[in-house]
Amino acid sequence: MFIYYRALLESRETEVISSEELSQLTGFSAAQIRKDLTYFGQFGTPGRGYTIKDLTHQLKGILGIDREWEVALVGMGNMGRALVAYEGLKNQGFNVTQLFDSDPKKIGMFCAGLKIKNIDNLKEEIRNSAARIAILAVPAGAAQSVTNLLLEAGIKAILNFAPTRIIVPDGVNVLNIDITNELTRLSYYLVQPDALKIADDNPAAGTESPEPIA
Ligand code: NAI
Repeated sequence: MFIYYRALLESRETEVISSEELSQLTGFSAAQIRKDLTYFGQFGTPGRGYTIKDLTHQLKGILGIDREWEVALVGMGNMGRALVAYEGLKNQGFNVTQLFDSDPKKIGMFCAGLKIKNIDNLKEEIRNSAARIAILAVPAGAAQSVTNLLLEAGIKAILNFAPTRIIVPDGVNVLNIDITNELTRLSYYLVQPDALKIADDNPAAGTESPEPIA
């Protein structure tokens, strides 16, 4: 759905788009696109296509990006600082409003206009906020203890950069991000040139659904 949404953003100069045109932009077959969209409802007019404005609006609702999400970020090292400085998050409706760290030298400092708060106050601060998504950018050894604090604070979704699996209860979603995994996939395709390509001409192979972890 996000790939379709991005393709629609690139097609804004036209009013209507057909599933064949969407197919050219995304690499998915027109039949697959129609099937995917039908799963969520009746969009578009047969023989005419989809009104870009309406479908964009619908997809935003389906993806949950028709609103602004408050996000808490824990770990203000290299990764945390790079993420909070990234304008794309806010532009897409993910507003980082809370920063936490355990390093006394960092606590109280400002980053991207936000004060870095003490991890000891995380529960109280997050409970008093609307944040339900957290980004975890702490070392692997601290990941589970910070996760436990986030869970107690009411966080329901975690984007985990730490190179370790974190355990969460049912009803909480974790997405693990690991650049080395992705680079390994690329190196695999370099040494196994006959393997199924993952590049743009085969988008389905390069897109995996988020992994709900119980
Ligand atoms: P870093 O060492 O620069 O920053 C880690 C920060 O976490 C520090 O500010 C530290 O004070 C803070 N911290 C440590 N324990 C804490 C705790 N209990 N509570 C709150 N804050 C705590 O590390 P860097 O380079 O920013 O990496 C952060 C994490 O992201 C690491 O786990 C690293 O392995 C991972 N990483 C993941 C990548 C990926 O592709 N997923 C790429 C690069 C790093």
